[in-house]
Amino acid sequence: MADKETIAILGGTGDLGTGLAIRWSKAGYKIVIGSRTLEKAQNAVANLKKISPETPADAMENADAAAAGDIVVLTVPAEHQLSTLDTVRAGLGGKILIDVTVPLVPPKVGTVQLPSEGSAGKRAQDHLGEDVHVVTAYQNVAAHLLQEDVKIECDVLVAGNKKAARDKVIQLTEEAGMNGWHAGPIENSAAAEALTSILIQINRRHDISHSGIKIVGQEDH
Ligand SMILES: NC(=O)c1ccc[n+]([C@@H]2O[C@H](COP(=O)([O-])OP(=O)(O)OC[C@H]3O[C@@H](n4cnc5c(N)ncnc54)[C@H](OP(=O)(O)O)[C@@H]3O)[C@@H](O)[C@H]2O)c1
Repeated sequence: MADKETIAILGGTGDLGTGLAIRWSKAGYKIVIGSRTLEKAQNAVANLKKISPETPADAMENADAAAAGDIVVLTVPAEHQLSTLDTVRAGLGGKILIDVTVPLVPPKVGTVQLPSEGSAGKRAQDHLGEDVHVVTAYQNVAAHLLQEDVKIECDVLVAGNKKAARDKVIQLTEEAGMNGWHAGPIENSAAAEALTSILIQINRRHDISHSGIKIVGQEDH
């Protein structure tokens, strides 16, 4: 059987990147943790190995991580999305870039305030050009759930222009313990990004810690 791909997680020292690294390392993927500083990435790899000792994992600065990954994941705050992509662009050609960015604008994070490009995902795709296959996902999943050894009930909307790229991300989502759904082209990332502000409102007004969405209607198989 062919080896599984290497997944490079840029900003993988943070909350969401840590959670995805744990899930995909347990599923047998080789992980590269990217950071602006090598030492920070090395600390994150050391922590990952405490949880998943058999995991092949490397630490690199973001640009090297992007070049080393077969699949690259961007997990940095929205305000640093494009500047980070600029530093790693050379390593992204022909690859899937999974972008988790939620463009919340503090202090009103419970109000939908999407960027003028329509969504953070569309902004990344426009910025990078069509030889990078931007696929957005995980905007509605809490980082701490990914980090914990728990069943995640909420589903994941997967948007991107190429069906084959979405198929791959849906497979990765299932291997991380969640259901992923084709949400259509990158423009449709707006819905998942906007939904995060609505879930924040639901959490506040209904006193629950992490609401999520679930797609219904599928026949039992
Ligand atoms: N947290 C969640 O529950 C959650 C859920 C869904 C989606 N998201 C999305 O996931 C992304 C990451 O969220 P997070 O909570 O993981 O963020 P975070 O922990 O605050 O930051 C992630 C990483 O971003 C890097 N970073 C910070 N400032 C930067 C800068 N100026 N330039 C470049 N990189 C910088 C840092 O890595 P280094 O210092 O190592 O470079 C940091 O560890 C965001 O876009 C967020 O909207 C988060």
